[in-house]
Amino acid sequence: MRRALDAVRKVVVLGGDGYIGWPLALDQSAKGHEVLIIDNCCRRRTDEELSANPLRQLGSPTDRTNRWQSLTGKTIEWADIDVADDPVGLRAALLEFRPDVVFHLAEQRSAPYSMLTENHRLETISRNTRGTHNVLLAVRALAKCHLIHVGSLGVYGYSTKPWEMPDGYLTVHIDTGGTAGTVSAEIMHPFEPVSIYHLSKCLDAQLFEYYARTERMQITDIHQGVVWGSETPETRRHPGLATRIDVDDVYGTVVNRLLHQAARGEPLTVYGTGEQTRGFVGLVDVIHGLELSVRNPPPVGHRTRIRNQVAETLSINELAHSVAAVSGARITHIDNPRSEPVQNTLAVSHHASDALGFEPSRLTERISEEFTAMAEAVRDKHQEGVSNDRYAR
Ligand SMILES: NC(=O)c1ccc[n+]([C@@H]2O[C@H](COP(=O)([O-])OP(=O)(O)OC[C@H]3O[C@@H](n4cnc5c(N)ncnc54)[C@H](O)[C@@H]3O)[C@@H](O)[C@H]2O)c1
Repeated sequence: MRRALDAVRKVVVLGGDGYIGWPLALDQSAKGHEVLIIDNCCRRRTDEELSANPLRQLGSPTDRTNRWQSLTGKTIEWADIDVADDPVGLRAALLEFRPDVVFHLAEQRSAPYSMLTENHRLETISRNTRGTHNVLLAVRALAKCHLIHVGSLGVYGYSTKPWEMPDGYLTVHIDTGGTAGTVSAEIMHPFEPVSIYHLSKCLDAQLFEYYARTERMQITDIHQGVVWGSETPETRRHPGLATRIDVDDVYGTVVNRLLHQAARGEPLTVYGTGEQTRGFVGLVDVIHGLELSVRNPPPVGHRTRIRNQVAETLSINELAHSVAAVSGARITHIDNPRSEPVQNTLAVSHHASDALGFEPSRLTERISEEFTAMAEAVRDKHQEGVSNDRYAR
């Protein structure tokens, strides 16, 4: 029988050493749930590959979970398993732990990284697609479990479309050319990935469609915007509980990259015209939204429940101007190193999120706090002299 929503649940966070996964694991543990993190820490090794210098040095997985336990008395378990390379280990870990919910965040998540070389393309497709399929097989082996994947709003592409990006499904009217006349159908919104990373998320979505339909698995796919912010109520409890902040040009998302430049007194480098529009959402709201998804699983036999998770859409110019307004930084435009439409408008449905009671903060209202937090992090780090933007050089 299904556990009551407020009862203690067993939760697996795949990718629980990452930017979102770690505070998600802390949040679930703080709520009293039993948490197992599965992560092989490959993201930490990528910092070495890229000679990237994340803003905070992270404690080892053991240091972090020990710190949490000493502060709260709560245990977070940890398993070092490669989700893409070790399907047997993954399945055994899930069968032993018997989770009610699996959050799948264990993927290569940078679009620029996926485009660096042919090897990075191969690695991104291989790791993300094999990983997701292994996760589906492992979750399928459980009697009942809700799989929640964090995908990207970017699967819809960034060309301007004269309609709102729906929560996954589009109603189309098809002229059959026969006696049936015009019929209506709901299909998955066509994909238009702009990077290999986004392409891997489209392939994930097709895998979810297959397993939800043929195996009656309960699957939620969050189509998420660019995430900003680095603190949650749990990470604020101790510096040893901090999550990572990436500010380099490969893994740093545009908000953290611009805030970091402003905090260091550097010009804000806007790629191209700055007329590219993206969806944004704060870290605290991402974690709250994932809890809302846990509480609202799709019924068994239902198609993948797809939900856009975005607080607002902004052009990069709007974002840069709001950072400049609180920091006094100068804005400079540089050649766009990315292959993407020069300009786009973007309207995103938030009907599915509204229906769950998702009320996210807007970055534009919180930019001053975010700038202060970044300036403090930069001050603590004393990393003057390390450029975060190879394209600006
Ligand atoms: N950060 C954002 O702005 C953003 C926006 C939209 C969607 N997302 C999605 O959310 C998810 C989490 O993003 P994040 O920013 O926390 O990324 P992250 O890189 O900080 O975390 C991912 C974690 O997964 C682990 N991992 C990756 N591949 C693995 C594997 N094969 N086996 C075991 N562990 C593995 C990494 O070590 C890392 O700790 C990703 O799937 C990403 O695509 C993130």
